[in-house]
Amino acid sequence: VFYNPAMATDRDIGVAVLSAWAKRRGHSGEGWEMLAATGVRGLRLLNESAALSGIDLTEANPDAFEVLARNAARFAGRGARAHRADAREDPPRAPYDYIELDPYGSPLPFLGSALRALSVNGLLGVTATDLMVLAGPQPEVCLRKYGARPLRGWLGPEGGLRILIAALARAAREEGRGFRLRLAYVLGHHLRVYAELPQAGEGAPDPVGTVGEDASTGPPLGGRGPFGPLWTGRLFDRGLLADLAVPAGAADPQVVGRLFERWREEAEVDATFAYEPNRIAASLGLPEPPAVPKLLEQLRSRGFAAARSHITASAFRTSAPRSEVEAAARRALGPARAS
Ligand SMILES: C[S@@+](CC[C@H](N)C(=O)[O-])C[C@H]1O[C@@H](n2cnc3c(N)ncnc32)[C@H](O)[C@@H]1O
Repeated sequence: VFYNPAMATDRDIGVAVLSAWAKRRGHSGEGWEMLAATGVRGLRLLNESAALSGIDLTEANPDAFEVLARNAARFAGRGARAHRADAREDPPRAPYDYIELDPYGSPLPFLGSALRALSVNGLLGVTATDLMVLAGPQPEVCLRKYGARPLRGWLGPEGGLRILIAALARAAREEGRGFRLRLAYVLGHHLRVYAELPQAGEGAPDPVGTVGEDASTGPPLGGRGPFGPLWTGRLFDRGLLADLAVPAGAADPQVVGRLFERWREEAEVDATFAYEPNRIAASLGLPEPPAVPKLLEQLRSRGFAAARSHITASAFRTSAPRSEVEAAARRALGPARAS
């Protein structure tokens, strides 16, 4: 039966997101965890956030379902209900205010039933672990499944995240729904997206497009573009970030807290791809990578927005054109070393 302790931090984040979301809405609602395995994710949301008044947990695998049924029975009084069912089919009771879609690999096979079952303004939480597809190594598969050309190498995961968001937005529109991205991030070997789906026709058009090598802002994308279509807009809703609190039951509260801090910093800069100092040093032939705090200081002193990114420990985003980033990297290293 699938139980992945490495996902504990991700489940902690889920509790925080649902708590913040419920606080804003001012009421709880019904949930559906489509691919429940042991039920740990859905049951934590039920027990630790005030967002859910009940939850349907579906699981197709008979062995996993046995465990799920036992776990759900312990919380039947709070509204946990286990079902042995195929998540691609319509669920026991719809619509749901929150739907959790946490598959092995791609969420695409389950998206149809998720979108049909989500209430207006409901929240959808989606995982993708098919980074071989979304993050570059299998570009043909990405094109076939997601209709997009992936980036490769270091930029692959952020590119994959943005391809995934664009695919979710497109699927929502095709289902006659709007799409409001609340939070999207890369964590270890998976991608995660939270989006609210209002009625169709609400809000501005989605910031989705292709990006090419000719862009003068952002890092060099490396060869064979254009890439995407992908989400070029913000990854974070700053209102939601402000309300995130580390859950009392967090496996490692420090890790979760530091991540929230990083997102809040990062959310101040709206720039599609993050930079990475080692890559800058390599492309400029510098003897060593510039230190990130110095680089950020250099960029800010010239009036550009600049902040660390969660994508990796040393990644950062900035509103500066690439030429300014390169100049700042040389200055951050000091005249003797950058020559
Ligand atoms: C990645 S695991 C879910 C992990 C769980 N959300 C957690 O946090 O521990 C995916 C689960 O989906 C189940 N599954 C796969 N296809 C399914 C389907 N069509 N309908 C229902 N469950 C399915 C698998 O048996 C597996 O237990």
